[in-house]
Amino acid sequence: MKAIVASGLVKRFGSLEVLKGVSFEVDESEIFGLIGPNGAGKTTTLRILATILRPDAGDAIIMGHSVRNEPDSVRKSIAYLPEDAGVYRHITGLEFLSFMAGVHGRDRECVKEGVEIAGLGDALRKPMGSYSKGMRRRIILAAILMLRPRVAILDEPTSGLDVVHAVHIRKRIRRFVEESGATAIVSSHNMLEIEYLCDRVAFISGGKIIAEGRPDELKAEHRAQNLEEVFAKLVEAV
Ligand SMILES: Nc1ncnc2c1ncn2[C@@H]1O[C@H](COP(=O)(O)OP(=O)(O)OP(=O)(O)O)[C@@H](O)[C@H]1O
Ligand SMILES: [Mg+2]
Repeated sequence: MKAIVASGLVKRFGSLEVLKGVSFEVDESEIFGLIGPNGAGKTTTLRILATILRPDAGDAIIMGHSVRNEPDSVRKSIAYLPEDAGVYRHITGLEFLSFMAGVHGRDRECVKEGVEIAGLGDALRKPMGSYSKGMRRRIILAAILMLRPRVAILDEPTSGLDVVHAVHIRKRIRRFVEESGATAIVSSHNMLEIEYLCDRVAFISGGKIIAEGRPDELKAEHRAQNLEEVFAKLVEAV
């Protein structure tokens, strides 16, 4: 079974058509990357997959369920990291992880895993209101991955992280997929990151998918050294 089948997604905000028929497929146990410039439609696509926005046309099937007709069923198999996720300022990181585990009926092992993924050390016992942007990102991501959703929808998971922590988080996303057989879809404008992290990628620009494939295939096809060059060539060709 495919983990995600997006077909012909269209989204308009007023007179602005920001998705113009976005289609792609993601296999189970795959890390799929959505790359493209600011305003390309990455967040809009992910919000539709997360059942937060309804498409004006088209549909996406996630683990066999339609985001359009069965959003409640879709929600059972996904977890979503928003681009601008906020935190509860007055509870500690550890309290937050315990709370999230409790709400989802998980045990202490789950919290332990969250602690390890977050890698925040002593700061876990401090109120999250005192966290830096990168620390907030890490605690939310830890809470998502420790719950082991079937499909993780991650909007710029490493945005605001320093290189060391970005590498740690990328490794954790990879391990999460390998250990639980789950699927992840991530967005980024960092082509290098996407190239390291993803099994397959789709380039989105102006609300359309302009190329899709494995990073090595795309590089070979466009005679490029890296995905940044692939994208430059694609944009030139448009
Ligand atoms: N709620 C909204 N109302 C009106 N326009 C919106 C809304 N959300 C997004 N847009 C517009 O849709 C387009 C796509 O936005 P989107 O957030 O999906 O881009 P993105 O690829 O995630 O960009 P970034 O890399 O900056 O995060 C942009 O032109 C944006 O201004
Ligand atoms: Mg975005």
